Amino acid sequence: MFFELNEEQLAVRDAARDFAQNELKPTVIDRDREMRFPKEEVRKMAEMGFMGMMVSPEYGGSGMDTISYVLAMEEISKIDASCSVIMSVNNSLVCWGLETYGTEAQKQKYLTRLATGEWIGAFCLSEPEAGSDATSQRTTAVDMGDHYLLNGTKNWITNGGSSSVHLVIAQTNPEKGHRGINALIVETSWPGVTIGTKEDKLGIRSSDTHTIMYTDVKVPKENRIGDDGFGFKFAMKTLSGGRIGIAAQALGIGAGAYELAVAYSKERETFGKPISQHQAIAFKLADMATEVEAARLMVYRAAWMKDQHMDYGMASAMAKVFASEVAMKTATQAVQVHGGYGYVKEYHVERLMRDAKITEIYEGTSEIQRIVISREILQGQLYLPYMPPSAQTSH
Ligand code: CAA
Repeated sequence: MFFELNEEQLAVRDAARDFAQNELKPTVIDRDREMRFPKEEVRKMAEMGFMGMMVSPEYGGSGMDTISYVLAMEEISKIDASCSVIMSVNNSLVCWGLETYGTEAQKQKYLTRLATGEWIGAFCLSEPEAGSDATSQRTTAVDMGDHYLLNGTKNWITNGGSSSVHLVIAQTNPEKGHRGINALIVETSWPGVTIGTKEDKLGIRSSDTHTIMYTDVKVPKENRIGDDGFGFKFAMKTLSGGRIGIAAQALGIGAGAYELAVAYSKERETFGKPISQHQAIAFKLADMATEVEAARLMVYRAAWMKDQHMDYGMASAMAKVFASEVAMKTATQAVQVHGGYGYVKEYHVERLMRDAKITEIYEGTSEIQRIVISREILQGQLYLPYMPPSAQTSH
């Protein structure tokens, strides 16, 4: 068993760390306060190849592995979780699905622009009445022969106001239940697409989260992803990978909060010595370090399983539920270590605490992850496998 990162992975991690520290950190407090979308910062992330990290170079991507992706996500999330969710949705929920299930024409037309960051994508599954219960889609895509007529409302859409392309999940054959759902590629410039309210959020405030309305939008048949009725499975498979990205985001938030707590505790003095020398604080740091490290192992392992083409659904759900709860706990403790200073914006930890909360909610709440995990257990998957299938069959 090897725990070493290779040279390429280390280089990606270092580049992401430098970018986050030097380019994101100086302005992150203002962006958060003003709910300002990080347009220029996203352009720079695109230049670095971070908007299509796992996409093949043939389609304009960086051709990297999932481990490299989670390393970049972790470093960027330590500083700016708004930037990292923009990146994560584009990489995991939009580019991955298009590359894996799209036609050659769809890849040439859309993936090449999304992977380079020329366009940003959004994944439109959630509805006012269909969040966790994702099969209850009310948005309809009526089959009109050569096109679908799309009508409905989606909400909580990350990149809602900044995206040029939406992957929209909609019901075509209600009598078939989830097998009647389709995934459609929709350009936001098309008639009938309306970008609605921008949400004023607790955290990840500079990412733009919108309600989207579709009114009689004509979507050509060639913009359907996969066979008729594949849309729900497409969404589930895409979210299985997306959850690794959000787990990495949570890991970064937790690690960022922990690092700030360690640095502050060495500087701040009470009762004649740095607070890190008081056992009450030192033990908090020990718990934070232990839990962040456990989350890191789970996140890297889920990414590694994806790279090995193993079944990673249970691993990604476990990584997400664990890392997001560690992020929330660690960021809250980091505020506590900072005392009153932790409660003001200048010290960054209050933002990390606010940002951490969403990782327990989006791309499947912690309760949904526990449904996914417990179903796997009850179907006979007692533990995660410890070897890739190729190694298992040789024994
Ligand atoms: N891969 C492939 N297929 C899957 C699958 C997976 N991971 N999970 C389920 N399926 C298939 C099932 O096999 C089943 O197909 P068949 O009937 O043909 O066998 C079908 O999908 C329906 O599955 P279930 O019966 O398990 O469906 P369910 O109604 O019980 O719901 C659920 C399952 C796991 C709870 C699902 O609804 C779910 O994941 N809900 C949460 C949705 C979610 O994550 N939303 C987040 C919004 S996106 C977002 O946040 C993006 C953003 O902007 C940041």
